[in-house]
Amino acid sequence: MGDRKTLDVTFRSATTADALCIAVLGMQVFLDTYATDGIRDAIAREVLESFSVTAISALIARADTTFIVAEVNDHLVGFAHLTTHTSHPMIGDPQAAELKRLYVQERFTGFGIGWQLLRRGETEAASQGASMLWATVWVGNERALQFYPRQGYAHIGSPMYEFQGEAHENLLYRKVLLNG
Ligand SMILES: CC(C)(COP(=O)(O)OP(=O)(O)OC[C@H]1O[C@@H](n2cnc3c(N)ncnc32)[C@H](O)[C@@H]1OP(=O)(O)O)[C@@H](O)C(=O)NCCC(=O)NCCS
Repeated sequence: MGDRKTLDVTFRSATTADALCIAVLGMQVFLDTYATDGIRDAIAREVLESFSVTAISALIARADTTFIVAEVNDHLVGFAHLTTHTSHPMIGDPQAAELKRLYVQERFTGFGIGWQLLRRGETEAASQGASMLWATVWVGNERALQFYPRQGYAHIGSPMYEFQGEAHENLLYRKVLLNG
């Protein structure tokens, strides 16, 4: 892997042919980020269900869903997953879009890939008429808690996020999109 000056990253919209690699990268980044105490049943179930190839293929096929992939040397190193027409009780706007996931493989972090995926996601959401883009971040995810405010996102609330019967505090960030 080169340094920041030589890293040649390409970005494009995903097709269903990308589902296998997105699923596996998703598992890796999810576990790196959320399995901070090791693996327990809830984490194991969540990762296998959310990142099955079938589940990711079905998401890519949805009309309200966009995946943008980042590649280096024809290898997937990151992706953004967003949905349009996705509101939240703390957002209250049916024209809002949600950034469901922004995942960069650990060894490719700090090269501007997350930042560029986010900008492309914002542009894509705005082009589809979204008024704002919002995302929730787990309170234990220190790096992401610092990342979003630096990218112009405002903290507007702290909802609970539930998966596999567990409730976890999240912070909700949003950014108004100019062309939404
Ligand atoms: C959070 C995450 C998406 C950030 O992605 P990243 O690729 O490491 O972030 P970037 O390299 O784009 O940005 C990191 C910093 O480098 C800067 N940077 C690096 N290269 C840059 C470039 N070429 N141009 C502009 N900025 C650049 C960014 O401005 C940013 O600066 P900051 O320290 O002031 O925030 C990434 O760490 C990740 O995937 N984490 C695991 C999953 C996760 O937590 N996702 C978020 C919750 S869904």
